[in-house]
Amino acid sequence: MKSFRLTEEEMEYLADRYPTPFMVVSLDRVEKNYRYLCEKLPRVKVFYAIKANSEPAILQRMAALGSNFDVASIGEIRLLASLGVPGSRMIYANPVKPAWDIAEAAKLGVDRFTFDDESEIEKMAAAAPGAQVLVRVQVENDSAVINLNEKFGVVPDKALSLLHKAKEAGLVPAGICFHVGSQSLKSEAYGRALTLCRRLFDEAEQQGMKLTVLDIGGGLPIPEAGQPEPDLDAMTEEIRRHLDRLFPEVEIWSEPGRYMCGTAVNLVTRVIGTKERNGQPWYVLDDGMYGSYNGLVFDHWTYKLEFFQHGVKVPSVFVGPSCDSIDVVARDYPAPVLQVGSLVLSPEMGAYSSSAATGFNGFQPAKTIVYEDNIGVAENISAMAR
Ligand SMILES: Cc1ncc(COP(=O)(O)O)c(C=O)c1O
Repeated sequence: MKSFRLTEEEMEYLADRYPTPFMVVSLDRVEKNYRYLCEKLPRVKVFYAIKANSEPAILQRMAALGSNFDVASIGEIRLLASLGVPGSRMIYANPVKPAWDIAEAAKLGVDRFTFDDESEIEKMAAAAPGAQVLVRVQVENDSAVINLNEKFGVVPDKALSLLHKAKEAGLVPAGICFHVGSQSLKSEAYGRALTLCRRLFDEAEQQGMKLTVLDIGGGLPIPEAGQPEPDLDAMTEEIRRHLDRLFPEVEIWSEPGRYMCGTAVNLVTRVIGTKERNGQPWYVLDDGMYGSYNGLVFDHWTYKLEFFQHGVKVPSVFVGPSCDSIDVVARDYPAPVLQVGSLVLSPEMGAYSSSAATGFNGFQPAKTIVYEDNIGVAENISAMAR
């Protein structure tokens, strides 16, 4: 799996022109990720989960590629609508939705919704009569970094009765969805979930309800600091085989988020202060846990830090700029000696980073710039070298 990575020259060139911290997204990398998935899972219709990164340039590229979109809120729907994406290309895949938001979504053309409890049916039926609904089932996965099955998904044995009730209320029971959990490191969980869904599809048919759609959610992993590289070729191959065996005639949807944009973004941050504490070097960065590195808290994430200085590496502490002691990005991280002004690069920052960054203490979240819009970078750099 290839990740986008700035060279030292490119990073320095950009850092001379944009204030740090900033994110650099490669839209070509996003496109390659999308095309890879379409090639590996040819029967699967992609609904990009924009919660992972809703940078308009990414959404525009995905829209131009023909992707559909998974949205979690009316704010995400409005954002896509403002970019010209019709509601018919979205699935409102938050199992519990405010009634007003369902109504506005329906007005904007959204007619696919997920749910996992009876209490949601009346709201959807009143605000979006005749909409297609998918029931979300709880599945098991102990190899996902982020568990999405404690809060979400009805126990499988109650799933079909929910679909029957949705039908009685005037909705169209289209199918079943699940999410194996985010950053799912093995494909076995998909196999188990698909086997479970096959049983539910068969039972539904026996009960006179023909389901037509299976939504396999998100979960595909990206590289993380200190973890083995995920084998996406093997994972997608196994998922494809299960789908062809168990669901040869069913329409398949997916909601990848992290996979689509995670490897396409680099963060460039700068050392703004140095200290020695208990004999150890401490570096204060201009981005931290309340900003781009918020996944330390919200995403169970561990970040890579890359340096371009040479010299012996010693265990060092990296902290963010806020006046809070919890704002620690990494401890005992091997690093060469850095100075105020040194640049630090974090790759694979595209997912659940910008989208959850806060402005705590008045530090504004890092802005995203598009690599290809600055493609002059490479030309300028080679011109400078000549
Ligand atoms: C309903 C739903 N779909 C898709 C996703 C995207 O998952 P991932 O980023 O693991 O691909 C999420 C993540 O929280 C989700 O809640």
